Amino acid sequence: MRRLFPVPAETSASTAETSASTSAETVTEDREWALDELADAYAYPEPPHGPSGAFLRANMVSSLDGAAHHDGRSKPLSSDADMRIFGVLRGLADAVVVGAETARREGYRPARAREAFAERRAALGQPPAPAIAVVSASLDLDFSQPLFTEPLVPTIVITGATAAQERIEAARGAGAEVVFAGAGPSGRVDTAAVVTALAELGHTRLLTEGGPTLLAEFAAAGVLDELCLAVAPLAFAGDAKRIMNGPVLGEPERFTLASVLEEAGFLFTRYRRIHQ
Ligand SMILES: NC(=O)c1ccc[n+]([C@@H]2O[C@H](COP(=O)([O-])OP(=O)(O)OC[C@H]3O[C@@H](n4cnc5c(N)ncnc54)[C@H](OP(=O)(O)O)[C@@H]3O)[C@@H](O)[C@H]2O)c1
Repeated sequence: MRRLFPVPAETSASTAETSASTSAETVTEDREWALDELADAYAYPEPPHGPSGAFLRANMVSSLDGAAHHDGRSKPLSSDADMRIFGVLRGLADAVVVGAETARREGYRPARAREAFAERRAALGQPPAPAIAVVSASLDLDFSQPLFTEPLVPTIVITGATAAQERIEAARGAGAEVVFAGAGPSGRVDTAAVVTALAELGHTRLLTEGGPTLLAEFAAAGVLDELCLAVAPLAFAGDAKRIMNGPVLGEPERFTLASVLEEAGFLFTRYRRIHQ
């Protein structure tokens, strides 16, 4: 991360003002940011309680022309700096919420405990790594994978009321914690209830890494508090999904820019939602 383009305090969400104004004084020059500085800049508001009872941040990357993946993976859109911020955001979170399709396609593994965030996490009473929470109606997940069998903190599987008992047992047998959020006949999860259910488990600093289907549902449910959007200096054309892929919202969600970092042409934006 080479540059911060400070955002004037009056356009920032109030909880972002301190870090933005501190940054404005100290980090306008072109230089690499230490992990600690990034962690300070991206720290969750304390207490981390939006109107939903938790604070839900999303971290996504998009190409210039709006693609959220290339050939079914987000890696072609990413960069070292993007992975650095990805790691910092995980290092700050209580739980990382992800749609099952992203977990399947990207081969999700448990989150690691990283020395760089150990002290900060201990001070907040967080375990050494965030829990990964996978949202799935089908429970068509490979429960023999390390994501379920070897996490530092048990992986959470969030499903609906009609999930097959045999898959629920497979998840539990692997060591996962199964959480029910939503009782619709379709078996789908109520995404607003995902946030409340995680908050009830004590996870209030929430990070979602998408994918586009799940993120659109969080936005539609009105529970997305912040969007960290990396813009990659690449164009793919084609018909890849955008970062949100779901029914159009009647009213747009509105956001205010909290900060922008740049490295190698990648923009790392952070937008706070304006709660109306
Ligand atoms: N650009 C980025 O930053 C970024 C980030 C993440 C992912 N991606 C890319 O996005 C693609 C995957 O995204 P996607 O939109 O197809 O999938 P997704 O949002 O990751 O996952 C969709 C799946 O999540 C489960 N799900 C979502 N909402 C649910 C609900 N309300 N109730 C129950 N289950 C629910 C369902 O799983 P079941 O089918 O198991 O029922 C559904 O099929 C991949 O190519 C990945 O590389 C890009």
